[in-house]
Amino acid sequence: MRPPPVRAGSKRHLLMVSVWLWLCALCTVWVPMAQAAELVVRLSHVVAPDTPKGLMATRFQQLVAQASGGRIRVDVYPDSQLYGDDDEMEALQLGAVEILAPSLSKFGVAGAPEFDVFDLPFLFDTLTQVRCVTQGRIGQELLQGLARQQMVGLGFLDNGFKQMSAPRPLLQAADFKGLRLRIQASRVLAAQMRALGAYPVVLPFGETRRALAEGVVDGAENPVSNFLTQGLAPVQRTLTLTDHGYLGYAVVANPRFWASLGEGDRTLLQRALNQALAEGNARAAALNAQALATLKQTPGLQVHSLSAAQRTALRQAVQPVHADFARRVGTPLLRDVKNLCLGGISG
Ligand code: LMR
Repeated sequence: MRPPPVRAGSKRHLLMVSVWLWLCALCTVWVPMAQAAELVVRLSHVVAPDTPKGLMATRFQQLVAQASGGRIRVDVYPDSQLYGDDDEMEALQLGAVEILAPSLSKFGVAGAPEFDVFDLPFLFDTLTQVRCVTQGRIGQELLQGLARQQMVGLGFLDNGFKQMSAPRPLLQAADFKGLRLRIQASRVLAAQMRALGAYPVVLPFGETRRALAEGVVDGAENPVSNFLTQGLAPVQRTLTLTDHGYLGYAVVANPRFWASLGEGDRTLLQRALNQALAEGNARAAALNAQALATLKQTPGLQVHSLSAAQRTALRQAVQPVHADFARRVGTPLLRDVKNLCLGGISG
């Protein structure tokens, strides 16, 4: 049955005309919005937006929007919203996300054992030494090597040095005995905890707080920016400033996505990322210093420092890990790191 004809000027006609005009108005707003971004790049990460990695990701988003006039949009998914650190690498390799910034500790188990060099306990004393590796020839070669793991390595970002948290201060190896400590999925970190007499427990970052609150694990190691922004203070009574290891990131892209870009867009994205990484690296230490200042004022949390002698003793306790992992990391790589960036020190 055909609908009765609508007379021009009738109430029904006016209603239909106004609905039509309203829809057109909506279309004129929606269509440019939908068309504004010709290319959407998903960047997934596991930490809070107000961390060195979170801020770098937001800055990259802004820089890409500016440089492309909104034609390229970076959608940032923080806090393991899209993928956790147990499945993000696989998601990248499958093309379910275009860009990630996993911690360097995640690359060893993903098939790039040379990245385990960054996990060797007490290898680096300063961020300057780390940057000598990440920002020089060695870093370039590490990024290029990621092609074997179906990733395009785009750059490095610092977070900072890790500190230990637990129900008690961890000032000497005996204090670690019997504690279940959360680690990232890294063989070196597992060996480090065992060398200290603790039980390493591999857990995704996003599950760490709950595991601490429920007593599944007793403690963890984190840069203070992560400790603060994950809200770990209420579930950990002490934080010991051990600076025993470095935590940083490699920004990586899916190779098919990267190859599908036109030369101009690839350059635009790489330039924006280089700037976001440079700014991020310049502010990471300050963010951690601010986080530490906040934590020192946090009621119920005790912050302990190591004496020089305690630090030396802890360093000695984990030395066997260096010998055990030299071959896995690669002896020439270790030699280069030590000769070029650590003043030739032996370990
Ligand atoms: C972790 O799992 O502890 C880290 O990978 C978190 C981070 O900073 O990405």
